[in-house]
Amino acid sequence: MVSKILKSGHIKLYKRENSNFWQMKIKLPKLKAIRSSTGSKLLKEAEKIALKNYSILNKDNKINISSSKNVFKKIHLVETADLNKEEIEFILNASKKYISFNKQRIKKSNLLEGRTIFNLFFEDSTRTRTSFEVAAKRLGADIINVAVKDSSINKGETLLDTMTTINSMNPDILIVRHPEEGISKKISSTVNASVINAGDGSHEHPTQALLDALTIKNKFNSFAKLQIAICGDILHSRVARSNITILSKLGAKINVIGPKKWLPKNIKKLPVKIFNDMEKGLQNCDIVMMLRIQKERIVEKIMPNQKTYFKKYGLDYKKLKYANKNAFVMHPGPMNRGVEIDSKLADDITRSLIQEQVAMGVAIRMACLELIIKNRDNNVNH
Ligand code: CP
Repeated sequence: MVSKILKSGHIKLYKRENSNFWQMKIKLPKLKAIRSSTGSKLLKEAEKIALKNYSILNKDNKINISSSKNVFKKIHLVETADLNKEEIEFILNASKKYISFNKQRIKKSNLLEGRTIFNLFFEDSTRTRTSFEVAAKRLGADIINVAVKDSSINKGETLLDTMTTINSMNPDILIVRHPEEGISKKISSTVNASVINAGDGSHEHPTQALLDALTIKNKFNSFAKLQIAICGDILHSRVARSNITILSKLGAKINVIGPKKWLPKNIKKLPVKIFNDMEKGLQNCDIVMMLRIQKERIVEKIMPNQKTYFKKYGLDYKKLKYANKNAFVMHPGPMNRGVEIDSKLADDITRSLIQEQVAMGVAIRMACLELIIKNRDNNVNH
C-alpha cells in the first residue's frame, strides 16, 4: 500500500493493492474518521478532492460522508428485486443527513463536483426528473437534461444507440425513464455508466418506493407492525410493484385493494393480501397509499366512469375511517383529484403525506447518487 499524509496528519491518502483509485481517510479532532474513495487515480487530483472534503467537514453546511460499513455496493439501481433488506435500510439511513441538509438556507455541497449525470426521460415527469436534477445540483454534480422529444431518435436512431452515444461522453450516471419494461436493465448491460431506473413502463420505479419507505420510516420508525394498503390501478402501476417489494422486505404487511380487472395475474405470488372492497381492505391499516389510474397504459380498453370509480375506490374522509384512527394517506403523484382521492383530504396536512413524499424524494435521490458514485469509484471493474 502506498500512502501520503496531509494537513498535519488529518488527511491520509492511500492506494489499496487491488485498486487504482486513491482512498482518503479524514480524521478531525473528536470525530470518527471518515474513509472514502476520492474517485481519482491521480495523486494531485486526489489531494484536491481530499482537501475539499476536509474543508466541507469543517463548515456549517457540512455533509458527513457516511462512515458506517457500506452494505450497498451496487453501481446500478434498476430493480427493487436486486435489493435486500440491509441494502434498503442502508440507503434509507444514508439519506437521513440530506433531510436536514435540504432544510438549510444554503443547500450546496461539492461532494460530486466534476461528476456528470444525464436525465433521459422518454415519458413525462415532474417530480422524478426535477428531484434528480435538484439532488445532483445540490451535490455539485453537472446534470444534463436531454430533450429526448427533440433527439435523433426522431431520425430513426435506436434507443441503445442513443445510450451508447451518450456513454461515449463518459458520464457517471444515466437516469432513465422509458415506457418499455426492463429497458433500464438492458441499458445497464450495454453502457459503462451507472443506470438508475426512473420508471420503466408498468414494471418498476425503485427510487419512488425508497422515498415512500423513508416517508413512512420518519412517521413510524419501524415497519415491523405496520399494515399498509395500496389501492387502485395495481395492474399498470410500477409504483405498486416497487413498493410491494421494498415495504414487504422491510417487514410491513400489505393489502392491495382494487377492481379485479386491475390486479395483475401473478398477484397471488406476491407477499400481499388481496381485496376488491375498500371497507374490508382498509381494516387495521396505518397507511393508505392511493394510485393514479394509469390512463396512458390502458389502451383500447374501456375506462371506468370517473364518478363511479371514485364512489367505489376513491379515498375520502368517510372511507379513511375504515382504516386505523390517525392513519396517513400517501400518493406518489401526479394525482387526479376527485378520481382516486378527495381534494380536501389530499391537502389535509394532518393526514396527507403527499408533500412530505416529494421532499423525501430529493433526500433519497441525493443518497442514491452519492452511494452509486462512491461504489463506482471503489469498483475497479466498471
Ligand atoms: N411519482 C412520479 O414518478 O411522479 P412523476 O411522474 O411526476 O415523476
